[in-house]
Amino acid sequence: MSFSNLTLLLTLALLISTLTAPSSAATFNCTTPSANSTCQSLIDFAPINATTLNAVKTLFNITHLRTLLGANNLPLSTRPNEPVTANQKLRIPFSCRCSNGSGVSYHRPQYIVKAGDGLDYIATSLFSRLVTYQEIARVNGIPDPNKIEVGQKLWIPLPCSCDKVDGEEVVHYGHVVDPGSTVQGIAEEYGTTQETLLRINGMPDPNELEAGQVLDVPLKACASSVRDDSIDSPLLVPNNTYVFTAFNCVKCQCSSANNWKLQCEPSNLNSKCPSMQCQDSNQLYIGNTTSSSSCNQTTCAYRGYDNQTIFTDLVAQSTCSTPSIASKMGLHSWSWNFLFVSIHLALLCLHLL
Ligand SMILES: *[C@@H]1O[C@H](CO)[C@@H](O)[C@H](O)[C@H]1NC(C)=O
Ligand SMILES: *[C@@H]1O[C@H](CO)[C@@H](O)[C@H](O)[C@H]1NC(C)=O
Ligand SMILES: *[C@@H]1O[C@H](CO)[C@@H](O)[C@H](O)[C@H]1NC(C)=O
Ligand SMILES: *[C@@H]1O[C@H](CO)[C@@H](O)[C@H](O)[C@H]1NC(C)=O
Ligand SMILES: *[C@@H]1O[C@H](CO)[C@@H](O)[C@H](O)[C@H]1NC(C)=O
Ligand SMILES: *[C@@H]1O[C@H](CO)[C@@H](O)[C@H](O)[C@H]1NC(C)=O
Ligand SMILES: *[C@@H]1O[C@H](CO)[C@@H](O)[C@H](O)[C@H]1NC(C)=O
Ligand SMILES: *[C@@H]1O[C@H](CO)[C@@H](O)[C@H](O)[C@H]1NC(C)=O
Ligand SMILES: *[C@@H]1O[C@H](CO)[C@@H](O)[C@H](O)[C@H]1NC(C)=O
Repeated sequence: MSFSNLTLLLTLALLISTLTAPSSAATFNCTTPSANSTCQSLIDFAPINATTLNAVKTLFNITHLRTLLGANNLPLSTRPNEPVTANQKLRIPFSCRCSNGSGVSYHRPQYIVKAGDGLDYIATSLFSRLVTYQEIARVNGIPDPNKIEVGQKLWIPLPCSCDKVDGEEVVHYGHVVDPGSTVQGIAEEYGTTQETLLRINGMPDPNELEAGQVLDVPLKACASSVRDDSIDSPLLVPNNTYVFTAFNCVKCQCSSANNWKLQCEPSNLNSKCPSMQCQDSNQLYIGNTTSSSSCNQTTCAYRGYDNQTIFTDLVAQSTCSTPSIASKMGLHSWSWNFLFVSIHLALLCLHLL
């Protein structure tokens, strides 16, 4: 294929995606009453032009590059100037707050208007249609969308939610629908059901799905043993992501391949961390597991933090096939063995007689 043909094809593809993109931005219901508290959310972003990870981090007001890397499960060693190609999807992590029945990003990202910017350009080009200019105008109290000033600070309200889904705490992910996707296919990819997706998105008919639409997809998070009184409670880490918590001292990773159990370990990012050693253990730190040859394993687990302590807990776990029975029978096994041997001896004696 010649270069001009390719250009034509790309232009056509861009035109089609522009034509099919919905004109109104997504609104996710969010009714969690926790007055002023926030939750973590994710949304897809596909830049219109080629850019870098660092530029995306700046655009979305993300403090540390590692937060963006963790949300995309990219190696921590990824460089800030790593190129991002046009239309390459990245997952943007942000804080969400419920307000008046729907969820929006909590006063971030903040965008400073530059010469030549219009609200519509900011909404459709810079933020690739994740919001509409009407939404930006509304949350920023701008009466005339044609009148914005250079240097003016704008809050870009990204759609999100903190609501439980089917009674479970989840991470709401604003998934930008690819051409050719089906609701059933998206449900399977993210471990939910078509029925749930249709219900939380208020879609009566799966055939209504449009390319470019921002679909509310609830992501299952790994089970964590973080205490209710911990500052990071509830720690919700979805499949194939990692986060830093507890003064950046602890790194926690979630993988469905690991039975949906959160894996936490010291991050080595902060040199002034409170102790991460489990009490009454033999030099076990968060994430350490005793290597024992019997079917008995002890793990030092992360249980959260307060403003001066990192909580830990020694968790004993049996790796045998019948864990509960084995541990309960522990004390009695000798007598059962004794009985078993006795019966055999008795039978043997009978046989010999
Ligand atoms: C929530 O924030 C509002 C204003 O930002 C404040 O008036 C209100 O007291 C806060 N409520 C709680 C429970 O913190
Ligand atoms: C967010 O963006 C604003 C404006 O560019 C900037 O002043 C502020 O420091 C940024 N905050 C973060 C956390 O990046
Ligand atoms: C809350 O939502 C209702 C209905 O969507 C709307 O009429 C009302 O103006 C909203 N209130 C605020 C403070 O945004
Ligand atoms: C993308 O690149 C084109 C051509 O250089 C430029 O006109 C446009 O403003 C850019 N858009 C964004 C969002 O950077
Ligand atoms: C979790 O992530 C893995 C790796 O990307 C993927 O194969 C799997 O389908 C995902 N599972 C769910 C339920 O999201
Ligand atoms: C969202 O909330 C509104 C107002 O409470 C309700 O009418 C609508 O059915 C809800 N949508 C979904 C998808 O739950
Ligand atoms: C415990 O974990 C630390 C940090 O992750 C590691 O450096 C150390 O080797 C581990 N010790 C054992 C006994 O596994
Ligand atoms: C199994 O672990 C528990 C708790 O650490 C310990 O008290 C017990 O002695 C261990 N048993 C064996 C057989 O290692
Ligand atoms: C830290 O904890 C102490 C008591 O444990 C409390 O008095 C103090 O207000 C806390 N500081 C912050 C910033 O939360």
